[in-house]
Amino acid sequence: MSQHLTKEYLTQLAAEFGTPLYVYHAEKIKEQYQKLTTAFNKSNTVFFYACKALTNINILKYICSLGANVDCSSINEVKLALHAGFPPERILYTSNGIAFSEIAEAKELGIIINIDSLSNLDKFGQQYGHSYPVGLRLRPNIMAGGNLKISTGHDKSKFGIPVDQIDEILALVKKHNLRISDLHIHTGSEIKDVEVFVKGIEVLFDIVPQFKELEFIDLGGGFKVPYKDGDVETDINLLAQKVGEAFAAHPNPGGRPLQVWFEPGKFLVSECGYFVTQVNVIKQTSAATFVSVDSGFNHLIRPMFYDAYHHIENISNPGGEKKKYSVVGNICETDTFAWDRTLNEVREGDYLVFRNAGAYGFEMSSNFNARYKPAEVLVIDGKAHLIRKRDEFKDLLRNQVEVI
Ligand code: LLP
Repeated sequence: MSQHLTKEYLTQLAAEFGTPLYVYHAEKIKEQYQKLTTAFNKSNTVFFYACKALTNINILKYICSLGANVDCSSINEVKLALHAGFPPERILYTSNGIAFSEIAEAKELGIIINIDSLSNLDKFGQQYGHSYPVGLRLRPNIMAGGNLKISTGHDKSKFGIPVDQIDEILALVKKHNLRISDLHIHTGSEIKDVEVFVKGIEVLFDIVPQFKELEFIDLGGGFKVPYKDGDVETDINLLAQKVGEAFAAHPNPGGRPLQVWFEPGKFLVSECGYFVTQVNVIKQTSAATFVSVDSGFNHLIRPMFYDAYHHIENISNPGGEKKKYSVVGNICETDTFAWDRTLNEVREGDYLVFRNAGAYGFEMSSNFNARYKPAEVLVIDGKAHLIRKRDEFKDLLRNQVEVI
């Protein structure tokens, strides 16, 4: 089992590479991947890393080397995956609201495609008919996930073709003699309860008999990871057991056993990531003691966007007296990372580390306030590698066309 990176080591990296700094621990990704493959070792299951969580090319190459497949949400993610060395048959493009031209491009590249609208399904049929297998991204009308913003399978969600439109789907399948190879659902992120997946299987198996050339059932991602002490994570062993039972209860009427796919993002890369910041200013007010770090929601948006909790640790003063702080950023917006958080006494210049920063951390960062995006470091076999340089001033002007 890999340990957390130590305070001393993170301090050393902060001194060497500067802050704000994203640090990823490769062995933790491997450990998470092995948890999945071990739990599902008796079943015919394949994992596609949902790379929207973190697309640094080195992370993609590392995950490719572990043997996982990859799930993409844009044609550029597909191209990054190809660049990282994933062969097309290990790349899945689960689209959502995209232009048909991207689907056509993915098809030319030989990628596996999940289509999420009747409109694109119709266009796909007109162009390719039965010649190229295609998956259906369905909306199962199941409410699941940590909060509404990350719930994607409920009956008001934009994602997928509503499963209640099955007649329209079947009409298109018939019209174009479509070769439907997989049925996909993704109900949300941070799903604790494995019964959600079982419910999804039930919804899909109601319609499975309608698709004679089906090979795969794709249950999406969304496994919960612990963000704070005492947090419950998805019980992967129980999930494997329940999914196994649900499939055993519904043999494929087509005869061949169906392969099960999952698309974990957070589960693979959340806990491998540390976001290291430095304290600029401490401001004592009647409302709170504000600790302002050299970052903001331009670098880690999850606390502001989802009210997400990230564990924060003052790695510079491990023996310091426990006190309460509001940890905020340095951008010109209310960018509160944490209210009333107990930390070892914080001094200006201390390093504060945010845990669980691997998934949707750097990936959702921006240059708001003309601040630089952070650097990224990958620790692998005990060695730290800079895998993305910190922005420089010229990056802020790159692509701008000065006409005045
Ligand atoms: N598959 C599909 C089709 C998805 O849309 C997603 C996530 C995943 C897989 C992976 O879900 P995961 O295993 O990472 O939970 N930015 C939000 C999460 C949004 C997830 C969007 N889709 C956050 O930071 O919490």
